[in-house]
Amino acid sequence: MQRYKDPEARDKMNPFAEQEAWEEHQIGKSKLQFGSKDRKRSSDDYQYVFEDGIDFVKSSVIEGTQHEEDSDQEDIDEKDMLKRELQDERKTLPIYKFRDELLKAVEEYQVIVIVGETGSGKTTQIPQYLHEAGYTAKGKVACTQPRRVAAMSVAARVSQEMGVKLGHEVGYSIRFEDCTSEKTLIKYMTDGMLLREFLGEPDLASYSVVMVDEAHERTLSTDILFGLVKDISRFRPDLKLLISSATLDAEKFSDYFDSAPIFKIPGRRYPVEVHYTKAPEADYIDAAIVTVLQIHVTQPPGDILVFLTGQEEIETIDEILKHRTRGLGTKIAELLICPIYANLPTELQAKIFEPTPEGARKVVLATNIAETSLTIDGIKYVVDPGFCKIKSYNPRTGMESLLINPISKASANQRAGRSGRTGPGKCFRLYTSYNYMHDLEDNTVPEIQRTNLANVVLTLKSLGIHDLVNFDFMDPPPSEALLKALEQLFALSALNSRGELTKTGRRMAEFPLDPMLSKMIVASEKYKCSDEVISIASMLSVGNSIFYRPKDKQVHADNARLNFHTGNVGDHIALLNVYNSWKETDYSTQWCYENYIQVRSMKRARDIRDQLEGLLERVEIEISSNASDLDAIKKAITSGKNGSYRTVKNPQTVTELKPDWLVEIAPHYYQLKDVDDTGTKKLPKGQGRAAL
Ligand code: CDP
Ligand code: MG
Repeated sequence: MQRYKDPEARDKMNPFAEQEAWEEHQIGKSKLQFGSKDRKRSSDDYQYVFEDGIDFVKSSVIEGTQHEEDSDQEDIDEKDMLKRELQDERKTLPIYKFRDELLKAVEEYQVIVIVGETGSGKTTQIPQYLHEAGYTAKGKVACTQPRRVAAMSVAARVSQEMGVKLGHEVGYSIRFEDCTSEKTLIKYMTDGMLLREFLGEPDLASYSVVMVDEAHERTLSTDILFGLVKDISRFRPDLKLLISSATLDAEKFSDYFDSAPIFKIPGRRYPVEVHYTKAPEADYIDAAIVTVLQIHVTQPPGDILVFLTGQEEIETIDEILKHRTRGLGTKIAELLICPIYANLPTELQAKIFEPTPEGARKVVLATNIAETSLTIDGIKYVVDPGFCKIKSYNPRTGMESLLINPISKASANQRAGRSGRTGPGKCFRLYTSYNYMHDLEDNTVPEIQRTNLANVVLTLKSLGIHDLVNFDFMDPPPSEALLKALEQLFALSALNSRGELTKTGRRMAEFPLDPMLSKMIVASEKYKCSDEVISIASMLSVGNSIFYRPKDKQVHADNARLNFHTGNVGDHIALLNVYNSWKETDYSTQWCYENYIQVRSMKRARDIRDQLEGLLERVEIEISSNASDLDAIKKAITSGKNGSYRTVKNPQTVTELKPDWLVEIAPHYYQLKDVDDTGTKKLPKGQGRAAL
């Protein structure tokens, strides 16, 4: 045992000894409630519990999941063995017993709704069953995922099970990354990518089956896909549609797809004990850390899954946990910390699926991705702070923001269920049972009802769907949001005043980007600066992970960053400066280190840029550089703006634009609109500055 300096500390470490701190419930039936006792603590309380000791928290980095083909006999034997093992494993999944029944149903019906507990094998097995039954002889099998990481990781798993190289028979396609080939029969892809495929192939002729997976997530793209696949299924009777979902409210999907039959896969589900905190937690990050340590020190073996809202939180907790467990002493098991979020590099993602070494415990720090999209084996404990990041949209201003919000009851129950897949589990909710009962909504509002629709409207218009009001939405978006999207696209000259797609709009639709960025690229033709503008668009597409700001070197990092702003240029030009400077060093990694730039993000930007260059060719825009004319570049950037001008609050961080450019760039809009109505501000000619 570790030595405690404070005799009380031991009890503090054990919430289950200190039962008064928790109310205990069992899913379905309320079990016990303990008396109360004020349980004040801070995370620092526990720091002294751990004596200095050996530093045993290893950050084991697992190399990529892809193996190079090797003619070495030993290697082949090993591969064969792995394949055989995996084949046996496949037969243990709950779905396996229903294989033939399911295939029969697919043969009989054109559309089926499939419902099954997470981990039952829907995503990995159904496409393989269809392949084995001969469907891939008639066309590809598509399986859509709301998240990139899920598409990649599931494709990797299935290619392993089939013993083929990833990207050959089994591949994946996500934005800016196409890992498929001529050979590909089973294609995992994000729902957004399938949506884009409609642009090139409106009847999805090259597919024999489309499986819209994780339908319960109701992402914007999934909702639009529903309407499109329902439509094409009418004139393509040979196309099979599978709508699969992890939750039981499948009737809604069935109703929407003209009373399609529902196929239920009874899952294995072990009881899960749900624990609530007695009082609301002021700081869920701190509470999550303490709970993880408590579980680690007091609970029997089994891995821990913590649900967090995003990369930043995950990195913070990762760091703190590593720090706190340093010096735990050899009597306490090793705690392996595995983060998983959308932007985590592929080679690190595989780590969460590696079996936990004997005697160690794994703690997976995950975003919502682990709620239903990814099945992680071996989880026995779930820590649920009760929050997720969710996009919200104000149609009045046209502004979108990501906010941390309480989850729904449906989500909370999905999360709890992750602990009971392979045996009885425990879920620690960092909120009270009162919160659960009274504050959480039953279900999450579908994304289509809380997002900017400009992108979707542009895609639908380019698919020839003009009558958006009568589009067959499962849940229609608010008409205010539709109107705002039309107005934005009009301001960007993507639509004319009759709401029809213009040539500009058609070109914009070719780019898998936000319409503002696509417009900026299309406009760069006129200002002869496409070379610079695609660099900027690529850098913006990477997100805000370009600059690295370590806690102990913030001043240095900030100074390095300021160098790119020389001449008081705005953010966009600064990003261009970063990209060009990196290019001048021949894409040097060392240069990135010296300038506090994340080399990984830069590589991704370069990759995206290559693809945007290819798309420029497709819309017949020449690559031309106009590096010395900053005004030209800024004008192209301004073209990508759509009437949402704000007066400058923070002048160092924005690209400066001259108000008369607005009239030059978008006269149709600036003569027509009194922008004040929509809460945005039209700037009088020649006055002040506006922010982009
Ligand atoms: O889609 P569903 O939640 O029904 O299950 P699945 O994703 O097909 O997962 C079935 C099983 O495949 C899981 O229990 C995991 O054991 C395994 N799997 C894996 O090991 N690695 C992955 N990347 C995905 C699945
Ligand atoms: Mg799945």
